[in-house]
Amino acid sequence: MANREHWGTRLGLILAVTGNAVGLGNFLRFPVQAAKYHGGAFMIPYFVSFLILGIPLMWVEWSMGRYGGVRGHGTSPGVFHLLWKNRAAKYLGVIGIVCPLTIVVYYTYIASWTVGYSIFSLCQDLPKVEHAGSLEESLHPFSGFLSEYIGTGELFLIPSSLAYVIFTLTLFVSIWVLARGISRGIELLAKVAMPLLFLFAIFLVIRVFTLDAPVRPENNPLKGLAFLWEPNFSKLLDLNIWLAAAGQMFFTLSLGMGAILTYASYLREKDDIALSGLTTAATNEFAEVVLGGSIAIPAAVVFFGVSHAETIAQEGAFRLAFVSMPAVFSFIPFGHLFGFLWFGLLFFAGITSIVALAQPAIAFLEDEFAVERKHAAWYVGGFLFLSSHIPIFINGTLDELDFWAGTFFITLFAAVEIILFFWVFDSEKAWKEINRGAEVRIPGIFFYICKYVTPIVLIIIFVGWMVQYGWQEVVKTSLPKWIARGYLMIFFAGAGFLVHMAWRKKRTTQ
Ligand code: TRP
Repeated sequence: MANREHWGTRLGLILAVTGNAVGLGNFLRFPVQAAKYHGGAFMIPYFVSFLILGIPLMWVEWSMGRYGGVRGHGTSPGVFHLLWKNRAAKYLGVIGIVCPLTIVVYYTYIASWTVGYSIFSLCQDLPKVEHAGSLEESLHPFSGFLSEYIGTGELFLIPSSLAYVIFTLTLFVSIWVLARGISRGIELLAKVAMPLLFLFAIFLVIRVFTLDAPVRPENNPLKGLAFLWEPNFSKLLDLNIWLAAAGQMFFTLSLGMGAILTYASYLREKDDIALSGLTTAATNEFAEVVLGGSIAIPAAVVFFGVSHAETIAQEGAFRLAFVSMPAVFSFIPFGHLFGFLWFGLLFFAGITSIVALAQPAIAFLEDEFAVERKHAAWYVGGFLFLSSHIPIFINGTLDELDFWAGTFFITLFAAVEIILFFWVFDSEKAWKEINRGAEVRIPGIFFYICKYVTPIVLIIIFVGWMVQYGWQEVVKTSLPKWIARGYLMIFFAGAGFLVHMAWRKKRTTQ
């Protein structure tokens, strides 16, 4: 335990956790969600979620992680076992390894498209459309280009060989970073990638706001902002908006899957949590609300108008990133350079999240099986490479994996975490953990929020969401869905078995 790795510097730690949280979600998922429920109607539930779910859970995951790390456990099976003296605890923690690792199985593939696209953009290989015609006409060449890149088909997708090679390289680079370790790998990556990400984003925001009104006088950048921000109180009682806002809050802050917990396990016992946790959460929100909200959707409004921007948002995050944005760049002078900035930005956002999603599995092998870090990283890399063939080649499995790992288990696991910490472990002890080494005084009201409000709201959200949508998804069947579910079940069983073996070994060696 004495030789557990640590973060090099305070700034490096904050950049690393910010890199963990700032991802494709900030620049794609957020604008799509906000536009879908357009009007300030989305932003009110969103800010409320930040206060009563985001900030409390951020502190909880940080302190659970530091508590575990100091005692030699950097992932949820070990941490849950410390907090709850029950044989089931460590098995419950399996979710905190399986979920992030399942997400990275498809997240890496998507992030690798941004590498391909930034090269196409720079080399001016993307389709060219001079003027914004009808939406259909303008976007058609770009949808065709994407289909060629990743393949189309009923059941099987055959990607272009370039897509496959670039994916393999992206995974290879990510695992190489992980094999270098916490401060020489993850932290160094964040120190390079995060400043570039913010720089690229600021360039793009300025470009979008200086676009004027190239197509129709009424479609200017301000209209794009108004489209996202115009308050709309009439929908405030709509439960769906609350569910969507809360879901986005977890996703963007990387909460509810043990990824923040693992990063925090590399803190030292007296390191501050209160201020650092708050800083990373606030930086993520800046990247999301200010930067993420000011690029893709306003640009779509300028060139296609409000109602078409709405259509684009309905079609989801991928089409926004890889179809509508390339179209926008083909209309503007030096568009290929701005396109390069856009895909570069998404790549930096993506890779710093990939390493965060894969690290829990690596930490688990290191902490519980004493596997050497380099070996652990390449084992996990091999596993990811093989698993990725499912979402790459079988149409429909990506969405199904995302449903379970990216939505269903996140909310459930977040509830489990906070209940274990504040109810099973004991609220006074939990509060003391959060405040140990704190550089700011956390207002006492957060004690009550963490103990009562957050768990109750999480349970309401999980049940409400299951009744509204989740249940319909669960009862749907199709071949790809069953392939994805079968994969997940085997994965859970395998990870459960590893946890079983790890603790059996501990008993016999003690
Ligand atoms: N927060 C990331 C984003 O906004 C996505 C994400 C969710 C994530 N859970 C995570 C990243 C866990 C790393 C670890 O895109």
